[in-house]
Amino acid sequence: MYLSRFLSIHALWVTVSSVMQPYPLVWGHYDVCKTQIYTEEGKVWDYMACQPESTDMTKYLKVKLDPPDITCGDPPETFCAMGNPYMCNNECDASTPELAHPPELMFDFEGRHPSTFWQSATWKEYPKPLQVNITLSWSKTIELTDNIVITFESGRPDQMILEKSLDYGRTWQPYQYYATDCLDAFHMDPKSVKDLSQHTVLEIICTEEYSTGYMTNSKIIHFEIKDRFAFFAGPWLRNMASLYGQLDTTKKLRDFFTVTDLRIRLLRPAVGEIFVDELHLARYFYAISDIKVHGRCKCNLHATVCVYDNSKLTCECEHNTTGPDCGKCKKNYQGRPWSPGSYLPIPKGTANTCIPSISSIGNPPKFNRIWPNISSLEVSNPKQECYCNPLGSVHDRCNGSGFCECKTGTTGPKCDECLPGNSWHYGCQPNVCDNELLHCQNGGTCHNNVRCLCPAAYTGILCEKLRCEEAGSCGSDSGQGAPPRGCPALLLPLAALLGTAGPLGI
Ligand SMILES: *[C@@H]1O[C@H](CO)[C@@H](O)[C@H](O)[C@H]1NC(C)=O
Ligand SMILES: *[C@@H]1O[C@H](CO)[C@@H](O)[C@H](O)[C@H]1NC(C)=O
Ligand SMILES: *[C@@H]1O[C@H](CO)[C@@H](O)[C@H](O)[C@H]1NC(C)=O
Ligand SMILES: *[C@@H]1O[C@H](CO)[C@@H](O)[C@H](O)[C@H]1NC(C)=O
Repeated sequence: MYLSRFLSIHALWVTVSSVMQPYPLVWGHYDVCKTQIYTEEGKVWDYMACQPESTDMTKYLKVKLDPPDITCGDPPETFCAMGNPYMCNNECDASTPELAHPPELMFDFEGRHPSTFWQSATWKEYPKPLQVNITLSWSKTIELTDNIVITFESGRPDQMILEKSLDYGRTWQPYQYYATDCLDAFHMDPKSVKDLSQHTVLEIICTEEYSTGYMTNSKIIHFEIKDRFAFFAGPWLRNMASLYGQLDTTKKLRDFFTVTDLRIRLLRPAVGEIFVDELHLARYFYAISDIKVHGRCKCNLHATVCVYDNSKLTCECEHNTTGPDCGKCKKNYQGRPWSPGSYLPIPKGTANTCIPSISSIGNPPKFNRIWPNISSLEVSNPKQECYCNPLGSVHDRCNGSGFCECKTGTTGPKCDECLPGNSWHYGCQPNVCDNELLHCQNGGTCHNNVRCLCPAAYTGILCEKLRCEEAGSCGSDSGQGAPPRGCPALLLPLAALLGTAGPLGI
């Protein structure tokens, strides 16, 4: 089964003053690994950093409960409403489908009424703690792209820890602590993600925001991925370039959002009052109706497709890489050390493809374009390697003395670096703009120095033209009451596209 491919403009829905408004988000695309382009040399492949789309990862996980027999209903048990100790007409019976609450119900389709949920046995052994570990395993590294959201059917627990593993469950680190009283429960000062900053974004905090028992209608606990992204990408995640730039250069930050497993440690159920009502222990239990985990397979920017086969996720690696995460070079393509693709320069990134091994010369690789003519090399220097960058060099091979000949604006032994005043974008292009000198006009922003990203109403190399001017549709003579500036009607096609993208559809 393929995690489907999708459009290249993506959207994020954010809450603005408690009204849901669509906010356009143009992410770096990274949705193709290679494309054929035309150069003076004819058709060549251009390789790019690429990644699978973000999707609902709960479809691909295995869930494990500890203790294993903690689910209610075996033997059948009566439980009371959390808020009313005398309303005890609910029954959990594992052997009757309508009365059973197995763990799968945390991941089934929501929106049914009444909702379906997993439920634990009640706290009948009080004061022995009622504790449950819920472990979610993917057997694959995944990158989280949206908030983890846990919806409780009963009150939200008084104490809980969300943990993560990056090594398939061998070691665990806390991700976030949740408590009605952080100091009392974990000896930590309560904090909220909003108290963090770019510099403290990796701090593990204890939050009291989500532990108000059954006293409010809110049943949801978040692990805030988007708020953390926003420290780099701005409040509406508009500047994804900046986030991608940071992810690219800061391994710790990338790893922070990467997991192979998650574990929800439920340490104390909602009590809602200071004291536990020992006469009505059937009021206390855990119940979860939904868990949301959005993310993507980690493929090191070498694949757009992640396949789920035999209950296993695997990247379909490109760029002559291999392994479940495209974490190494294919046999015979070990001509230089493996490296992950790079998000930079935005928007295409750098593929960092694996190249043919020296030892594979005996059976010549089908890689003539960047692999020099072996026999001509042997006439120069037999040890010479010259992987001339096909976009940056005039010829795809070295010249007679083993040098790559670079195009205008390009330099470096492989013609893959730009001279000052140029930036890489399918080869080196002369700079158009500069963020510091603010060449882009009308609120446009400089993108990689080679082009201005204009607000919707403007166009032109430096966003100097009104888009409607270009289309000849400005002013009152359109007769449609269109405002003279801004041409908001042009936003419509974009809004239409946005409607089809998922949450944080990366
Ligand atoms: C949950 O996991 C922790 C280790 O992270 C362990 O110490 C604890 O005993 C487990 N709890 C249960 C109820 O299995
Ligand atoms: C990888 O190898 C195949 C042949 O095995 C070749 O067709 C392809 O162009 C190579 N390069 C990349 C970057 O994928
Ligand atoms: C490689 O170079 C040799 C000697 O310069 C030449 O005879 C041969 O045609 C070249 N092969 C290719 C594929 O260009
Ligand atoms: C090869 O290119 C280098 C660098 O541009 C140049 O110095 C050299 O003269 C060239 N050799 C030949 C044989 O063209």
